[in-house]
Amino acid sequence: MSETLFFESSQEDKTARYTELLPQLKSLLGSETDETACLANTAAALFECFDFLWVGFYRVKNKQLVLGPFQGPIACTRINKGKGVCGKSWADNASILVPDVDAFPGHIACSSHSKSEIVIPIRDAKNEVCAVLDVDSEHLNYFDQRDLDGLQRICALLENHLYLV
Ligand code: SME
Repeated sequence: MSETLFFESSQEDKTARYTELLPQLKSLLGSETDETACLANTAAALFECFDFLWVGFYRVKNKQLVLGPFQGPIACTRINKGKGVCGKSWADNASILVPDVDAFPGHIACSSHSKSEIVIPIRDAKNEVCAVLDVDSEHLNYFDQRDLDGLQRICALLENHLYLV
């Protein structure tokens, strides 16, 4: 297992960064099957690759989203279905891009520094949401289609690696 991530592209060239990250993440996950271990290294790799405020996972447990592996400031531990951006992504089984968190009704503010956010659902073999990937930025309007595409590819990798086997 390579323990160092290597990037030639600049952090601003998001498409290139995601393209460089994906095969390295695949090799980092390797043959590891433990869910926590894989999600923890994915959060760490994303945090190293980009200038995010917070990146991590919430997992569906007993009808709630429960905080999983993450990098960044401390965060709220439980989110109900339909609540906040994460709970809405779970309820709708859809990705959500939030340019301005203050303009999103019901947004849950874990950090006052968070200004924009993106959430991607992760599905199991029944196409039901089993976790979400949540990324926060301290900049307004930070995320765009490149993040949506890149993060969805990462979640697809995790689905294939952990939840569709
Ligand atoms: N803002 C999220 C809560 C999780 S934190 O951002 C880490 C939400 O509204 O669901």
